[in-house]
Amino acid sequence: MIFAMPTSLQQDLFGVLPSGERVYRFILKNEWLEVSLMTFGAAILALRTPDVEGRLENVVLGGGELADYLAPNKAYFGAVCGRYANRIAGASVCIDGVKHPLSANEGYDTTLHGGKDGFDARIWSARIVEQNGVAMTLESPDGDQGFPGNLTATITYTLEESSLRLGYECSADQATVVNLTNHAYFNLAGEGNGVILGHLLRLGATRYLPLDERYIPVGDLANVEGTPFDFITERAIGERIREPHAQLLLNRGYNHTYVVQGEPGMLRFAATVRDPLSGRVLTVQTTEAGIHLYTAGFLDGSHLSASGRPYVADSGFCLETQRFPDSPHHCSFPSTLLRPGETYQSETLYEFSVMTTR
Ligand code: BGC
Repeated sequence: MIFAMPTSLQQDLFGVLPSGERVYRFILKNEWLEVSLMTFGAAILALRTPDVEGRLENVVLGGGELADYLAPNKAYFGAVCGRYANRIAGASVCIDGVKHPLSANEGYDTTLHGGKDGFDARIWSARIVEQNGVAMTLESPDGDQGFPGNLTATITYTLEESSLRLGYECSADQATVVNLTNHAYFNLAGEGNGVILGHLLRLGATRYLPLDERYIPVGDLANVEGTPFDFITERAIGERIREPHAQLLLNRGYNHTYVVQGEPGMLRFAATVRDPLSGRVLTVQTTEAGIHLYTAGFLDGSHLSASGRPYVADSGFCLETQRFPDSPHHCSFPSTLLRPGETYQSETLYEFSVMTTR
């Protein structure tokens, strides 16, 4: 396959943490996309793509100052979540008969997105790959947030024509559990530009994971048919989001992992989102078993857009490609165990286009 070379790849200093550590920004740009990344959290800061009239706008939330990413009520804007994305119940895992207590950062007994000091809050070391990519690596030490084993995690962002490819790779020197994702919130009408309830969503999934009151999967896979969770045929995200369904009420909207049809490990269709106003279209393909649809019901206006507009509930949607939440406690879920000598691999493609008919 021949990839178009980006017209530019720039690097600059984005900010300095209170500790004095420097955070760098990389901007990858070609004729279709402009992606800004930073070494703090290996995060996507901004992603500019044209609308149907050719107007470029940033379609991911965040992108302000570095200080905005350090707020205590963090929302993980654009960041890589790890060592275990989403939740682990009881803030502990048992591996080969040994119980490992983990950092609890939601209530007293849930580990969310890797714990208090997750991968989203670390400085990753970056290197440029073949002029159209940036690879960021994090060395997570043995016992990091309670997880066993030294783990090396790398995410490579590559610009390929109108797609951004996210490739993850990890290895460890002891058995551990791993689940990485990117937590970008999209608004295809432009970040800070209203809510995403009118966006049209189609998912390649007929089943999803219902949650208990701690937002932990109950373990069963529920069929979406006939419920507000059914996006097998395209529907506006907001069409059924306000129905008095217990799962929607608990989560202030969608906050659920769907089981992507097809074989995990193979890159395959997971989702399409179309915004009838801007005409922008996002198509997601992944090798992952799951895609987590989060419609940002917990955003409460306390985070501001780069242009100063508050991010209220439903200001964005996340499509976090990942393994299932709390897998270490569900033997029926695909395993998230990584043993020494094995390589954790995962790939997701975010492809942007515009609607041909509206
Ligand atoms: C979780 C939400 C959480 C959000 C921000 C999502 O991945 O599923 O429950 O509020 O991340 O932390």
